Amino acid sequence: MAGRIPENLLEDILSRIDIVEVISGYLPLKRAGRNFKACCPFHHEKTASFMVSPDRQIYHCFGCGESGNAFKFLMRYERMEFPEAVETLASKAGVILPRASPQDSQAANLIAQIYRANEAAALFYANNLSHAAGHEARNYLVKRGLTEDSIRTFRLGLALEKWDGLINHLRQSAMSLGVIEKAGLILPRDGGGFYDRFRNRIIFPISDIRSRVLGFGARVLDNALPKYMNSPETPIYTKGNNLYGLYLSRDHIRDTDLCVVVEGYLDFMIPYQHGLKNIVASQGTALTAEQIRLLKRYTHNVVMVYDGDAAGELATLRSLDLFIEEEMHVRVAGLPAGFDPDTFVRQFGIRKFKDTVDNAKDLFDYKLAILKSRHDPASVQGKARICQDMLETLGKFKNAVLKSEYIKKLAQEVDVREESLLSEIKKVKAVRPYQELKEPAGKKAAAINPTEKLLIRLMLQESGLIGRIREHLEPADFQDERMTRIASVLFDLDSQGRAVEPRFLVNHITDEDFSELVCESAVMQEDFSAGHKEKVVADCIQRLKSERLKIKKQKLAEEIRRAQHLGDEPRLKELMEEFHYLLRKKG
Ligand code: CTP
Ligand code: MN
Repeated sequence: MAGRIPENLLEDILSRIDIVEVISGYLPLKRAGRNFKACCPFHHEKTASFMVSPDRQIYHCFGCGESGNAFKFLMRYERMEFPEAVETLASKAGVILPRASPQDSQAANLIAQIYRANEAAALFYANNLSHAAGHEARNYLVKRGLTEDSIRTFRLGLALEKWDGLINHLRQSAMSLGVIEKAGLILPRDGGGFYDRFRNRIIFPISDIRSRVLGFGARVLDNALPKYMNSPETPIYTKGNNLYGLYLSRDHIRDTDLCVVVEGYLDFMIPYQHGLKNIVASQGTALTAEQIRLLKRYTHNVVMVYDGDAAGELATLRSLDLFIEEEMHVRVAGLPAGFDPDTFVRQFGIRKFKDTVDNAKDLFDYKLAILKSRHDPASVQGKARICQDMLETLGKFKNAVLKSEYIKKLAQEVDVREESLLSEIKKVKAVRPYQELKEPAGKKAAAINPTEKLLIRLMLQESGLIGRIREHLEPADFQDERMTRIASVLFDLDSQGRAVEPRFLVNHITDEDFSELVCESAVMQEDFSAGHKEKVVADCIQRLKSERLKIKKQKLAEEIRRAQHLGDEPRLKELMEEFHYLLRKKG
């Protein structure tokens, strides 16, 4: 990845692209006066409050506050890191980025080459299916209920029963064997040289949300062991960091605001092929925190459908707590023993599968049912054990209302007093002080003084006003610490004669509150006539000054009282002088 990208280049890129065009690639934008609007992709809503300003090159949602410039949009919507968003728009704008350090560019180069090797391998494997040697594999896929269409959509392929099928194919391209090895596709041979990692297996390419192939899963065509093999850890692939199929299903997940999570490749493909498209596969048992965060971009609602066997149950329980920690709403659907989503859909049809999903149990009921089947809820010990395990999970709720509702419910279900549960849950918490501390105490900041906010807003909307305001005020004249910070950024830029444009400012803001205010101001045009605006600015300055003066006087009066109390005559004299000076000022 490129290192720190010079500011003027960022501004150059932003000046050459059009945010309306970028966002239109993802959302249907409708004209609304001087702005464009759409339903916000970052929260669920029925009426459009997501605005894009072509004049300001900024987007802002009045519903959830999400806002920023074109880079930020890609970071949020496509889950790109900043450098990746910059690269994407740079190439769109025809801007060439410098490579920061040789190591950086080497690493970036290797990663790009690994993607290329994976892509070439995916094409090769897919192509093998259409050859005569792919006959048996094609039959296998048909037997598993996959259509031609699906085979193409999921880019399924075949690794031939050869030690050098892929190597020989890739040798014809200019690709280095070292890179192909780093992609995990080939392994070094004892006597020198390499051999294919995947042989005589069906290949499932695993892609990221930008449809780039990260790695591969590979299954035998019979009952040989191991049944499944995966790519090893590579610079771009880590098992447990991705969700199989998300690149195909993410829009469906967003649209339905729900994601069905299953375990296996086939468990994903078969329901998807039958029209249930808001689905992903975890590719193993327990979901990782990384995978949950990936999902959380698209929905907060999850239904886990796992096999009816015991291993499935345990894996589900482990994932549940992770979901709660990420404040997701999760339900669980059990299948009859011996079935997984793949075999269930093929046996009973997609309708029945959808019913199962619709009837998924709330995780509370699910966990309680499992615990009740393991411990006797009629015995004292059983009750204690059930409560203890349930409280472990309930303790993870960050939402106090939800937590207390569930505790009430638990008290009824196991027939214990709510007070006992409340005192028990405190003990659970006490064991984990760290997790409690992580939540910032009062994250909701105090309301911002409207005068301060209006002044900042006016400066953001009309950079010509900054100089005038700077003549009369200092950043410290703003009482709100955030406003002070914004003011000093604006004053600094202005004094350096630099452009103060919201779309550029956002590049340097990591603080969400700050970025929200900047974008909101940019999208909202205050309706002041030119002359009136001057008057408003003058009034605001006057008001801030007098507020500032009032506070100064109060502080001074306090100091004077203290000096009197201590009998500190020289200090008292000094303070009184200052006080009289202040009184002469208009306040
Ligand atoms: N899996 C994996 N690596 C393994 C074993 C399993 O990645 N070594 C993942 C695969 O995504 C697989 C899923 O776990 O699809 C489920 O594996 P398993 O329970 O073995 O699936 P089955 O239903 O038995 O396999 P199939 O339907 O293909 O016969
Ligand atoms: Mn299966």
